[in-house]
Amino acid sequence: MKKSFDSGIITPHPVLIIGTYNEDGTPNAMNAAWGGQIGRGLISISLGEHRSTDNLRRNKEFTVAFATEKMLAACDYVGLVSGNKVPDKLAKCGLTVTKSDKVNAPVIDQLPVTIECRMLEMQEEFGEQRVVAEIVGMKAEEDVLTDDKVDLGKLGLVVYDTVAKCYRTVGDNVGGAWNAGKIFG
Ligand SMILES: Cc1cc2nc3c(=O)[nH]c(=O)nc-3n(C[C@H](O)[C@H](O)[C@H](O)COP(=O)(O)O)c2cc1C
Repeated sequence: MKKSFDSGIITPHPVLIIGTYNEDGTPNAMNAAWGGQIGRGLISISLGEHRSTDNLRRNKEFTVAFATEKMLAACDYVGLVSGNKVPDKLAKCGLTVTKSDKVNAPVIDQLPVTIECRMLEMQEEFGEQRVVAEIVGMKAEEDVLTDDKVDLGKLGLVVYDTVAKCYRTVGDNVGGAWNAGKIFG
């Protein structure tokens, strides 16, 4: 029998590591789980007021890397402390960056897959800043690709369990989308 609740939550969420440049040109990063893709080439992220939010207002370009099990502690750390209080937070957790050639934003060297984004709008909605951006490029390490496509079987991707407030690895391929249902005709 199903139990009835007066609230609910969508889970899991992606773990997006947002890379931006500070005013002085040093890199910053934050963890954002409240976001996702909203259409072909478009993403939306819900942001509170952070150093990264100010960086985005000023610069309008950023990167989004996907958190991995191998780099889990560093990905969590950038979500725990603000660059306003710990200016060298990337160095503190062992992250280094290379400037993207497509956007004015840092690509984190230790995270294998990063998309490069240009902000289209930042709107205050329900007490948060809703950022909508277009994806203008992607950088991916060759060893997480199969036939030039990102292979989740190789990436070691983690997602955010919004109920247990923990990270979980993404598991096996258990069936083809737009395919498994074909057994019903
Ligand atoms: C698992 C996790 C998910 C988070 N998701 C978001 C989010 O979606 N939006 C947001 O504004 N902050 C989110 N945060 C909080 C920011 O990452 C955090 O406040 C960070 O310190 C901001 O860094 P900054 O001030 O250097 O930009 C999240 C933190 C964690 C640990």
